[in-house]
Order: sequence, then structure tokens, then C-alpha cells
Amino acid sequence: MSDFTNTSEYEEQFDPRLYLETYFHLGSGSLADDFIRFVLENFNKTFKSGAVKGSTLIDIGTAPSIYQLLSACENFDDITVTWHTNRELRELQKWLKNEPDAFDWSSIVKHVCEIEGNSASQKEKEEKLRGKIKQVLMCDVSKCNPLAPHEAPKADCLVTTVCLEAACKSYESYGTALKNLSNLIKPKGHLLMAGDLGANYYEVGSNKVFSLPVNEKFLKNVISESGYEIIQLVAFGKPEDAAFDTSDYEGFYFVHAQKK
Ligand SMILES: C[S@@+](CC[C@H](N)C(=O)[O-])C[C@H]1O[C@@H](n2cnc3c(N)ncnc32)[C@H](O)[C@@H]1O
Repeated sequence: MSDFTNTSEYEEQFDPRLYLETYFHLGSGSLADDFIRFVLENFNKTFKSGAVKGSTLIDIGTAPSIYQLLSACENFDDITVTWHTNRELRELQKWLKNEPDAFDWSSIVKHVCEIEGNSASQKEKEEKLRGKIKQVLMCDVSKCNPLAPHEAPKADCLVTTVCLEAACKSYESYGTALKNLSNLIKPKGHLLMAGDLGANYYEVGSNKVFSLPVNEKFLKNVISESGYEIIQLVAFGKPEDAAFDTSDYEGFYFVHAQKK
């Protein structure tokens, strides 16, 4: 049975600003430091390799984050960002409108400029991304058209980070969501996906937020069975001396796949 996270329960549990403040100050020593470095390095390498080209890119489950698009905006001119809860949308809008109380992404933007060898200032890099974002749409991966009622033209590339593990309550629904996402991608278009391995939860304040624990074997099978060819699946194992108690994660993954 397809089983997805209840949106209003999720919205109540997940404080988007607290999530950003807890995990997205690079160098703060949180478990996400490893994740951010790993994911940003893989996005940078993948886009720089020239293997992922085109003009249109959709990021599913963007809000409240933007780190996952900082390298994408060097290759793609037409980026659609998406949101699932109003609370997350409000946080994303603060950044989109460059409001004074928007979350400060500077530690992460600085890191991306460094690994890209990009001489742009942090401000220029953020402005470049803002300029490439052409649409902000609601999304629901449980729907056959996850952007319904909007009928978007199929994209050259679809990005999604730490989203399906939050949205899908079962392994079966994870496969359904991947098939739904493929309806948004052109044939031979690209899927770039990243998230946690083995996590049942991560803490946001005093709340333990649900995560579906996935492993490499499951990911390989479910992606291949959902209409994609895997180009690359990279995993990062949690260092043995890592003593974080904010999540029971075992590592991270990054996948580059192509729609058949
Ligand atoms: C941990 S957050 C990740 C946000 C962002 N992508 C990131 O990397 O920081 C999980 C995301 O999954 C989204 N989500 C939960 N259920 C969803 C659904 N049915 N459809 C689409 N997104 C969903 C949440 O709204 C949230 O944006």
C-alpha cells in the first residue's frame, strides 16, 4: 500500500527555521557538516563534468533550503523550486525576496564558491541563483503529477534532497514517488538525488522527525525498477568516531540516474 507522510502532522513537527539553524551552518560541528560537504562536492563534480546539461531543472521539496541548487545555477537557466508546507514556503520566500530576517546561507555559499573555484562573491552567487529561479510551485510526490494542478513541461534535470525519505512511509511508496517524479523528466533527462542512509529519525528541536531508513541495495533496486538507469551511486559511511545523537543515520548517498 502506498503510504505517505501526513502533511499537517509533518508541518506541526518540522520547524523549518530551526532545521536550518541546527544543520546548515557549515563548520558548526553538527552531523550535517559531513553531509553538506559530501553533497555539495558531488553536485559540483556532476555539473562540472558536463554530463548533466539542458535548460530546465526542477527541484522537488526545495523549501526551506537552497544549498542543493548553488552549483546547479551555473548550468541551468530555468529553475523551478517547490514547497510542500506553507511554513517551509514562508521560510524560502524570505530568502527569495532577500529579506533581512532570511536564513544566513553564507557559510555554505562560501564553501560552494571555494570548491567551484568561483571568484564570485557570496552575494553575487546568491543573486545568480535567485535570477535563475523562474517558478515557485507546490509539490506532492504522492501525486502522479507531483506539481498538479500545474502542468509543467518535462525538465532536463530533476533534483531532490532529503525529501523522499521524509515523504514516503514505506518502501513501496518510495518506488511510487520515484515513478511520479519520472513524469516530470524528459526521456534521457537526469535525476540527481541525495539523502541519509539508515536514518529512522533526525531531531528538529525536541521533535524526532520521521525518516524512512534506506540503504544502497534498496536504492539501486528501487531506482532501476522505477524507470531510470543509474549512472553513479556514491555513499559516505558515518565516521566511526562520530558521536551525534540527533539522528541514527549510518551515512549519506548521492545518486545520478537517467530516465530511460
Ligand atoms: C528534511 S526536508 C528537506 C528539505 C530540503 N530539500 C533539504 O534538502 O534541506 C524534507 C522535505 O520533504 C518534503 N515533503 C514531505 N512530504 C512531501 C510530499 N508528500 N511531497 C513532496 N515533498 C514532501 C517536506 O515538505 C520537506 O521540504
